[in-house]
Order: sequence, then structure tokens, then C-alpha cells
Amino acid sequence: MCGIVGYVGKRDALPIVVEALRRMEYRGYDSAGVAIVDDSGHLMVDKRAGRLENLDAALAAHPAGSFAGTTGMGHTRWATHGRPTDRNAHPHVSADGKAAVVHNGIIENFAPLRAEVEAAGIEFSSDTDTETAVHLLALEYDGGEHAGDFIGSAYAVLRRLEGAFTLVFTHADHPGTIVAARRSTPLVVGVGDGEMFVGSDVAAFIEHTRDAVELGQDQVVVITADDYTITDFDGVSQQGKPFHIDWDLAAAEKGGHDFFMLKEIAEQPQALADTLLGHFENGRVVLDEQRLSDGDLREIDKVFVVACGTAYHAGMLAKYAIEHWTRVPVEVELASEFRYRDPVLDRSTLVVAISQSGETADTLEAVRHAKEQKALVLAICNTNGAQIPREADAVLYTHAGPEIGVASTKCFLAQIAATYLVGLALAQARGTKYPDEVAREYADLERMPDAVAEVLKTGPAVRDLAQSLADVNTVLFVGRHVGYPVALEGALKLKELAYIHAEGFAAGELKHGPIALLEDDLTVIVIMPSPSGRAVLHSKMVSNIREIQARGARTIVIAESGDDAVRPLADHLIEIPQCSTLLQPLVSTVPLQIFAAALAQSRGYDVDKPRNLAKSVTVE
Ligand code: F6R
Repeated sequence: MCGIVGYVGKRDALPIVVEALRRMEYRGYDSAGVAIVDDSGHLMVDKRAGRLENLDAALAAHPAGSFAGTTGMGHTRWATHGRPTDRNAHPHVSADGKAAVVHNGIIENFAPLRAEVEAAGIEFSSDTDTETAVHLLALEYDGGEHAGDFIGSAYAVLRRLEGAFTLVFTHADHPGTIVAARRSTPLVVGVGDGEMFVGSDVAAFIEHTRDAVELGQDQVVVITADDYTITDFDGVSQQGKPFHIDWDLAAAEKGGHDFFMLKEIAEQPQALADTLLGHFENGRVVLDEQRLSDGDLREIDKVFVVACGTAYHAGMLAKYAIEHWTRVPVEVELASEFRYRDPVLDRSTLVVAISQSGETADTLEAVRHAKEQKALVLAICNTNGAQIPREADAVLYTHAGPEIGVASTKCFLAQIAATYLVGLALAQARGTKYPDEVAREYADLERMPDAVAEVLKTGPAVRDLAQSLADVNTVLFVGRHVGYPVALEGALKLKELAYIHAEGFAAGELKHGPIALLEDDLTVIVIMPSPSGRAVLHSKMVSNIREIQARGARTIVIAESGDDAVRPLADHLIEIPQCSTLLQPLVSTVPLQIFAAALAQSRGYDVDKPRNLAKSVTVE
């Protein structure tokens, strides 16, 4: 996820663009850059790795009066292709220095396009997929079918791109015009008085106008100071969706939600889709910066997953999937325990380190320990260029976008999907699954963003329930099989956000001790296994609910729609979409996140910044 802004008007573009980037820094902060076109047809670009302050300092060092122009665009980056460096920062510029582009998303077919550009004798100055687009634009503009026609050239390039992207183009020969396009990533137009904006979200221009137009899928907008025109990629006229922004600025950054965490919960379908995007090509699962060959994967005889907190719960789920698909034994270990235990590792051990931040000290030390023991380390990380992926042998990035709320939500779902991709890649390399089985599992995964969107609709009912329980002191969570890590995750969310005593148990363990806690009105949240999965899991869980009810406890049951056996046993039933057993955690976790956030809110707590916690835990 990156932040994009474009401006055409009568005012100096630079301060408007830089301020917009500041408003959108929450979307990504690996690097930032601006491009300004002046009225005499000069393009000026500056871009810097790191926080926006680095760009501010670089811009301040330019002579006064430079970067003056009324057409401009900017970008704040959350790196996907290429490390977060100055050269990979956006905007990217054509070889003749006249065209510039900023981009959010992934151009999936960049490799053949890049080869085509290189064959035309153009040298790339970054490792990004984005740069391809600007060189293609220049080639088209300089000698293609649309020579001299900026807008026509931009359309010609857009029609050739595959993937998910928002792109904004500007050209020195055409001050006063910006072309922007959207496919699967957001773009809104801000309609001002004698000025127009494009932005990844309304935070980019809310200071200047509250009249906006939302672009639909596969639409292109051309803006000038006084007008905007929307078409499809073939230039056929289209309607945008006009709306008036009545949020304040703070709410705009949060997409209208009260807290970043609530926005991140709502973003989970996109986070999942983006994490899966581009990982199945020509009938095979591919992992991005894998750097592990099929040969390496075939040599592996044991997998360790190391992680902390929520990421550890994703690791627990990985064990179920990887062992089931590959028959390779998987151990899951808290990163903080791993290296002090003297685990048995060697060259044929794969250590999968899961970390949203990529900076967690416990996980980093576990990675170092694994490498000292000559194990292969694969990092699953959401932060491009962080220390853990840097030190790992291979990286699989979750493309969930920045997670600002301290409690991890969308990254948990993205981590589950990423570990499942690892499992499928291992199964594929080792031949423990036929290609058509791998394809079927992947297709099931690809349906999950829609299932998560569906389960989000339970939000209002779950929030009402949470509010009615605002005074509880203890909540227990029970689950079996993949429902067990979900129970642990539900309890962790409630502890950290609402400061309530919450415990997760494997349902079969209840009778070995925790059942003594049950009493009248104690709240127990039960995660029911899929009735379409192993019947024994389902029937054992039904018995567990009966045991809980018999002791007077209040049951909140999360069960698949159509699970009629459980309906009479639930004091409160939260229905989730039907899906296969291994995929169920992707939907069953979501109501638990909403429940914890709502309960915390009704107690008056700041769910983005729970007490005593930090987003990156860089001490052991
Ligand atoms: C809980 C939470 C933490 C993190 C843990 C690991 O909501 O966010 O438990 O999951 O601190 O952090 P990363 O994934 O950055 O290594």
C-alpha cells in the first residue's frame, strides 16, 4: 500500500503535494518523492528513502524558486518490488527526463515489459516494476502510434499492464494535465475551484475540497485545473461516483473509522487478496523473493516456525496446513524460547520466521540462532527491507499494507495466507500433492477475500453483543484443531485491548483443569469446527458446549452458517461463511477481533494504542 497524490491548478503545487504526503504517510513510509512540472515545460523530481522528513530536508536544500510549478504529484511508499532506497523511491522518470510516474500496487507482467524496454536500449535506474511503465510511455510518446500525444500514449501503456495498480502520469511537454488510472487499488478525484486533485484517499486533498469522485475498477481519469474526464482503459466515457466528504481530517486518514485498527479489520479482504496476488503462475505456486530452489525444498526434512504473539498463532496454523499437505514434521515455537532450548537444527531444517514488523528482537535472535546452526531461514514479513528479511535466506512478503493499530489484525490473516503458500510450494516441490490438487487449494484460498468480506457483515451484531458484555471480568475461548490457535488469538486480542482476563484453551483440555473455572454467567466463546470437515471434531465440540452450558456458563458460539446442530446450544450465535477446515480461521478470527475492539471501546480505551504495548518490540 502506498499513498499517491496529483495536483493541477493555479497554486504552487509543491507545498500542496508535500502536505498531502504527510496526511497519507500512514499508508507507507519507506520513502517519499515529488515531481513538479513548471509552466515552461521542465520536470523536477526529488525522492528520498526513509520518512518524509528526509524528503523535506532534500527539498529545502534546493535553491529558492526551484520546484515552482502548478502541476505536481507525489508518492509515499510501502515497498513491494525493490528495497526501500532512494533509487527505488517514486516518482520514476523516463530516460529523457520528461515523463514521470507514481504507482501503488504491483504490475504483474513487468518482467516481459522490462525486457522489451531494455531491448530498446533503455537502462533502468531502479529495481521496481513501476519504472517499466514510464519508459513504455516515453517510447510510445517519442515514436509510437501516439507520438506527441501524452494522453493517448498513457492509455496505450495502461492497456498493456496486468496486475493491481493505481498509476499517475505527468509529462513535461504537457503542464496542466495529469493522467491517472485505477485497477483494484484505490483512487479518488478531488474537485476544487479551479484546481483538481487525485489521491489514494481523500486525506490527500480534504484540506482543499470536500467534493470528491470515486473511480471505479479499470477507469482512467484525466485532470486539468478546470475539468476531469473519466473513461475506461479504451477511452470509452464512464461515470465516477461523486460524493461529499463530511469526515474531519483525522477520520479521513482512518477511512472514516474511529480507529486505525477498525479500518485495518475492514481492510482484511484486500490484505488477503494482495498477499495472494501473483503467487500462482503457469499452474504453479510461486513465492516472491524465495531464493530457495525446488531442490532446496526437497532436501528439507523438518520445519520450525518461530514467531511471537499473534504471528505465533499464525505459525500454529501453519503447522496444521504444512504437515497435512507435505508430511514434513513442523514444530512451532515462541521465538523467545527457541534459542535458549538448544533446538535440533541442521542444513535440512527450514526455519520460517513470521514477523509483521520484521524488527521483533526475539524473532530476529531466533533467526540468527537458526543461521548459526546452518538451517535455511525463510522470513514472512510485512515490512520491506526490515532486519529479519534482510538476514533471512529468503523472504515472502505479506502485502497487507502498513498496520498502524498496535494490535495485529490484517497482518494475522495475511500471515496465515503466506504460510499456506509456503506449505503449497513445499508440497509442489516434494510432490506430496499433484499439481491439480495444489491448484484447487490455491483456488480455495483465492475465494477467501470474499468470505472475509462476508463475515465482516456480522460486525454490527458482534459490536452490540460486546457492548452488552462491557462489564465482564473473564472470558474463556475454546476451540479444537485449527480453532485452538483462533481461541488463543481471540483471547490475546481481548487481553491486550480491553484489559480483561481472557484465556484460550484447546477444547479437549477443558476437562483436565480449566472446567473448574466454569460457573454461572461466565462468558465462554466457542469456535465450532466446520461441520463439513471431520465429523468427530464437530461432534466432540458439541459435547464440549453441552458441558459448558451444564455448568451455567454463557456461550457465544462462532459457527458456520447451516450448522444446525449447534444452534440450540448457543446463547449467542455468530454465523460465519462455510469454508474448508484449514481455511476457517481466516473467517472465524474476524468476529473475535471486532468483539475485542468493541468491548475495549465501550470501556473507553484507545484501541490503537493499548497500554504498555509497542508496535515493534525491539528489545528481548
Ligand atoms: C498482538 C500483536 C503482537 C505481535 C508480536 C509480534 O496483537 O500485535 O503479539 O504479533 O509482537 O510482532 P511482529 O509480527 O512484528 O514480529
